[in-house]
Amino acid sequence: MRIILLGAPGVGKGTQAKFICNRFSIPQISTGDMLRESVRDGSNLGKKVKTVMDTGALVTDEIIIDLVKERIKKDDCKKGYLFDGFPRTIPQAEALAQQNIQIDSVIEIRVEEAEIISRLAGRRVHLSSGRVYHMINNPPKQKNQDDLTGEPLIQREDDKEDTIKQRLKVYRNQTEPLVDFYQEKQKEGVLSYQSVDGDKTYDNLFKEILIYLEKL
Ligand code: AP5
Repeated sequence: MRIILLGAPGVGKGTQAKFICNRFSIPQISTGDMLRESVRDGSNLGKKVKTVMDTGALVTDEIIIDLVKERIKKDDCKKGYLFDGFPRTIPQAEALAQQNIQIDSVIEIRVEEAEIISRLAGRRVHLSSGRVYHMINNPPKQKNQDDLTGEPLIQREDDKEDTIKQRLKVYRNQTEPLVDFYQEKQKEGVLSYQSVDGDKTYDNLFKEILIYLEKL
C-alpha cells in the first residue's frame, strides 16, 4: 500500500503516520525527519537546509526529490510506504507521477489554525527517534524526558509562534494546491482521496483512518 498523508504543519501527520505504519507494517517516509537527521549529522546537506527549515520555508524540490528517490529504492519499501510531509509542491507531485510511482491513497487531515498553533507550541520531540509528545495532550511520563530512553526532549526551532505562522502561510501558498491536484486524480480514477477532520482524539482519528484504509 502506498499512502500520502497531506495536511498543514501540526495537524498530526507524524502522529497518525506512526499508527498507520505499525498497523500495515510499512515504513514511514518523513522528509522532515530525514532532513533533521542530516542537520544532526552535520552533513553537507544538513548545512544547506538548516537555515531554510528554521525559518519555515521549503527546501528546494531538487533536494527533496533526490532524497525520496534514494529512500524508496531500499528493500523495506517493496511492500509499500507512507509519505509524511511529501509531496509538498506541485513539482514534487509531478516528479512522483513522472516516475510512474502509483499512489493508492491520499489522506488529507484538516485542523483549524488556532488548534494547530496550540499543538505546535506545546509539542516536544525526541530528536533521534522522532517520537513526538505534547506537554498537555500527550505528555511524557517524566517531565521533558523521552519515555523509552530518558533522554531530554526539545522544542523544534520551527515551533516558535512566528515561524509556525510562516509555515502555515507557506502551506497555503505552496502545498494546499495539492488538494485540488489529488482530487482531480481521484476523479480520473488514479487513486483514492479521503479528507478527514483531525480535530478529535488521537485514537478516534486513527480509527476513522483505519476504517477508510481497510475498505480500499
Ligand atoms: P516536517 O517535519 O514535515 O513538518 P510539518 O509538515 O510542518 O509537520 P509537523 O511535523 O510540524 O506536524 P505533523 O502534522 O507531523 O504533526 P505531529 O504529529 O507532530 O517539515 C519540517 C520542515 O522541513 C519544513 O518546514 C521544510 O522546511 C522541510 N521539508 C520537509 N519536507 C519537505 C518537502 N517535501 N519539501 C520541502 N521542504 C520540506 O503533531 C503536532 C503536535 O500535536 C504534537 O505535539 C502531537 O502530540 C499533537 N497532536 C497530534 N495529534 C493530536 C490530536 N489528535 N489531538 C491533540 N493533539 C495532537
